[in-house]
Amino acid sequence: MKFLTSYVWLLAILQVSFAGQVISTNTQPIVVPSLKSWTGGKGEFLLKSGARIVVSSNYKQENDKNSRMENPADLKQVANMLAEDIVALSSLSLKVVIGIPAPDDLYLQLGHQANQTSDEAYTMKISSNSIVVSGKTSRGIYYGTRSLLQIMIQSKNKRTLPVGSIEDWPTYQIRGFFLDDARKFFPVSFLQDYARFMGWFKLNTFHLHLNDNDFLANATDPTWKTKYAGFRLKTNNPKLSGLARGENEWYTKEQFQSIQKVAKANALTILPEFDSPAHSLAFVQFKPEIGSYPVLDNSYLNLNKSETYDFMMSVWDEFAPWFDSKTLHIGADEYPSSQAAQFRDYVDTIARYIWEKHGKKPQVWGTGIEFDKNQTLSIDTNITISHWANWEDNPKNVTNNGYKIINVNDGGPVSSYIVPKSGGGGDKIDSVQYLAQYSPPIFGTGYNLESQKQLDNVLGGMFAVWFDNLGPSTTRWETHSIVGDTMAAISEILWNGSQNTTDPKVFFSNVQTVTQGPVNLKLEISSKSDTLLNFTFDGAHGNVLKDASGNRYDAKISGAKWVGKHFAQALEFSGKSSVVKVDLGTKGFNSTLFMTLDISSTHPSTILSSDEGAIKISQSEISISNDNYTYSIQFNTTLVKKADIAITSAAYPVGSKLYLDGKYLANFTYFIPRTSRTVSMGLVTPLDYIGKGFSGRISAFQVYDRILSSDEIAGLSKEVS
Ligand SMILES: *[C@@H]1O[C@H](CO)[C@@H](O)[C@H](O)[C@H]1NC(C)=O
Ligand SMILES: *[C@@H]1O[C@H](CO)[C@@H](O)[C@H](O)[C@H]1NC(C)=O
Ligand SMILES: *[C@@H]1O[C@H](CO)[C@@H](O)[C@H](O)[C@H]1NC(C)=O
Ligand SMILES: *[C@@H]1O[C@H](CO)[C@@H](O)[C@H](O)[C@H]1NC(C)=O
Ligand SMILES: *[C@@H]1O[C@H](CO)[C@@H](O)[C@H](O)[C@H]1NC(C)=O
Ligand SMILES: *[C@@H]1O[C@H](CO)[C@@H](O)[C@H](O)[C@H]1NC(C)=O
Ligand SMILES: *[C@@H]1O[C@H](CO)[C@@H](O)[C@H](O)[C@H]1NC(C)=O
Ligand SMILES: *[C@@H]1O[C@H](CO)[C@@H](O)[C@H](O)[C@H]1NC(C)=O
Ligand SMILES: *[C@@H]1O[C@H](CO)[C@@H](O)[C@H](O)[C@H]1NC(C)=O
Ligand SMILES: *[C@@H]1O[C@H](CO)[C@@H](O)[C@H](O)[C@H]1NC(C)=O
Ligand SMILES: *[C@@H]1O[C@H](CO)[C@@H](O)[C@H](O)[C@H]1NC(C)=O
Ligand SMILES: *[C@@H]1O[C@H](CO)[C@@H](O)[C@H](O)[C@H]1NC(C)=O
Repeated sequence: MKFLTSYVWLLAILQVSFAGQVISTNTQPIVVPSLKSWTGGKGEFLLKSGARIVVSSNYKQENDKNSRMENPADLKQVANMLAEDIVALSSLSLKVVIGIPAPDDLYLQLGHQANQTSDEAYTMKISSNSIVVSGKTSRGIYYGTRSLLQIMIQSKNKRTLPVGSIEDWPTYQIRGFFLDDARKFFPVSFLQDYARFMGWFKLNTFHLHLNDNDFLANATDPTWKTKYAGFRLKTNNPKLSGLARGENEWYTKEQFQSIQKVAKANALTILPEFDSPAHSLAFVQFKPEIGSYPVLDNSYLNLNKSETYDFMMSVWDEFAPWFDSKTLHIGADEYPSSQAAQFRDYVDTIARYIWEKHGKKPQVWGTGIEFDKNQTLSIDTNITISHWANWEDNPKNVTNNGYKIINVNDGGPVSSYIVPKSGGGGDKIDSVQYLAQYSPPIFGTGYNLESQKQLDNVLGGMFAVWFDNLGPSTTRWETHSIVGDTMAAISEILWNGSQNTTDPKVFFSNVQTVTQGPVNLKLEISSKSDTLLNFTFDGAHGNVLKDASGNRYDAKISGAKWVGKHFAQALEFSGKSSVVKVDLGTKGFNSTLFMTLDISSTHPSTILSSDEGAIKISQSEISISNDNYTYSIQFNTTLVKKADIAITSAAYPVGSKLYLDGKYLANFTYFIPRTSRTVSMGLVTPLDYIGKGFSGRISAFQVYDRILSSDEIAGLSKEVS
């Protein structure tokens, strides 16, 4: 039997030998994505509770000049991040100390030249009583800690690694992900978790689009004053503090720095973008005199006015000092060709200003050079091109002319663009196709980079998520469900090189074991079976609402009382002061909520809540709020008698569905004004409190860790009636 198993795994190793590394041990195969080489030995290392994380005494590293950040994390910060991740993944709390390792310690050693050509390289030597991760930079060592964690969490006790050694380095120097934070706001904690998630996949660039707007219909569209526009930074400077757009949808300097701090500890650069002179409605709403109305619509800056230049320079003066990145993205996307000359002058001027005044490298979208048939700007070639459309710039020409290019192509064999809820192919990236066909030099027939000079100028790649359909169309949890697998695929390609010989099915099933990383972006709640919660309404435990699921998630009752004839059968709630504290946070997709209620509330009243939002109910409607937006369904009848409410929660495109008395009633949806499409919404379930508003009785409350079929829901309804 044993022989057979390892034989099967040998075949598997052959199959996936280009997709990360399969580390075969006596007991089980271990899969590490984005890893170049592994040499196995005999025995294993056990991480003991008394072990320490030791950093070499030269941990400060003052001269990491090739870092893309002004002040990259030192090795101690990387060690602290590792300690935090070990707590999250292995429930071990290790001390971080500076000095010389003792047996059983994890040693992070700065200074060793792992690979002459890559600063991000590292080596790792695992013996039965020591682990040494070394590299030239703390960034390289950070990547070593990712491999370490990914190997470790695949052991049964989550604390064991096989003896062996690793030499590892990335193929591409820019490995990124782009997020349109401007048309959909993402809170600080989510971006921090995303920084950790991206670091987990050894990506190093998080491109944040910080201003943008809904589309205007035409040059004289009078709705420009009220159309949605986002600008995400809120300064104290009274001259520019009003620039932050969207109610509470911005970051203060301290908040933005707290995002950069987590990014930095994960060897990740936040690449900030202010997009102008197009996509600029947020600037024009703040300062109407710089708009182009009525020649062009007011999302375009008027480049005939010197005050436009002055204002945008003052914006950069204010915010450039906030950023860690040595590169600033100045947008320069999609200005009308009727104003090509003005556009070129503007882009040149701002790019030069970023370079000369702020000492930062400018980066632009490909339109920046679109109107120049010579495909060159007057500014020096240090400018980097984010390439997204072959009709905007020709990758062959720009690289021939010495520009550096990043492949974020909305085209080629597989597009790197996602516009959630746009319908059809743009909704997500087919990550199986992507793994097989995406590669930084590949832009599509006639545009692929071939000569050495062209190849030398391709820095790497990213994929992008754009919210053309605005924030309420897509929650951040839906966003993550769309992005997750593609993150794994691009990481594999950018770290290990082209993956077109990998079997994608094997790859994606393998990475399932490590996809979550140290953060809980899928909002999982651990459960012994697929019944997550099953409260018992017999009133036998006073103020304790007993959970019969086997998980012992007993909850605490206050201000609600047991009612029933001979023995209690329901818990009665009377408004805000009646509450059951469940304290489980928020449950993510692929779950089912089932409740039996007698509803007295005639106005929407909170029945479930958490930090994420609330479910509200009345006799005539139910709503769920996620991401500060409320999605409602009218019952179109008045629920005066006992009602069974079930909600199944699945990611887009299936979405969340409402069942009443065991029968499907409706989908939770959102109407997108721009496209006049109604799209399904996948909504997550708040599980910290029951009550806090609701008036009426609850006599059943269950949560399942999967989607129940309509027959099962009908069955539950029969069971409780
Ligand atoms: C070092 O890294 C480069 C890519 O950056 C790679 O081509 C080369 O093979 C590596 N060399 C060694 C000795 O690992
Ligand atoms: C421009 O768009 C607005 C808003 O949709 C519309 O009311 C107006 O008629 C349009 N004007 C022209 C000239 O098309
Ligand atoms: C800027 O001036 C030029 C030349 O007069 C004109 O063609 C163009 O339409 C003007 N642009 C705007 C936005 O007013
Ligand atoms: C393009 O290059 C040619 C030849 O060097 C030059 O004469 C012309 O002015 C350039 N055009 C632009 C728009 O820079
Ligand atoms: C740009 O590239 C295309 C395709 O390689 C080539 O035909 C064209 O001459 C180039 N244009 C310039 C200005 O170099
Ligand atoms: C590029 O940047 C370097 C400094 O990093 C500078 O010395 C050089 O002049 C710039 N221009 C070109 C064309 O390399
Ligand atoms: C894989 O990519 C390489 C380099 O781009 C290419 O030469 C080769 O034809 C591709 N193979 C397949 C099976 O697509
Ligand atoms: C829930 O608990 C009740 C007992 O209170 C039990 O009869 C029922 O089978 C349980 N349901 C599930 C799905 O565990
Ligand atoms: C939900 O279940 C589907 C089908 O089993 C699976 O493909 C998907 O990855 C799951 N989603 C989440 C967020 O767990
Ligand atoms: C919701 O709004 C509050 C305050 O208005 C804000 O602090 C929070 O970050 C927002 N949450 C989301 C998910 O947008
Ligand atoms: C309630 O009525 C409205 C208006 O007719 C309809 O759009 C909606 O679908 C109905 N809701 C349900 C749950 O049937
Ligand atoms: C509800 O959503 C499903 C997709 O899960 C879709 O097939 C169905 O048409 C939707 N029903 C309505 C009434 O929108």
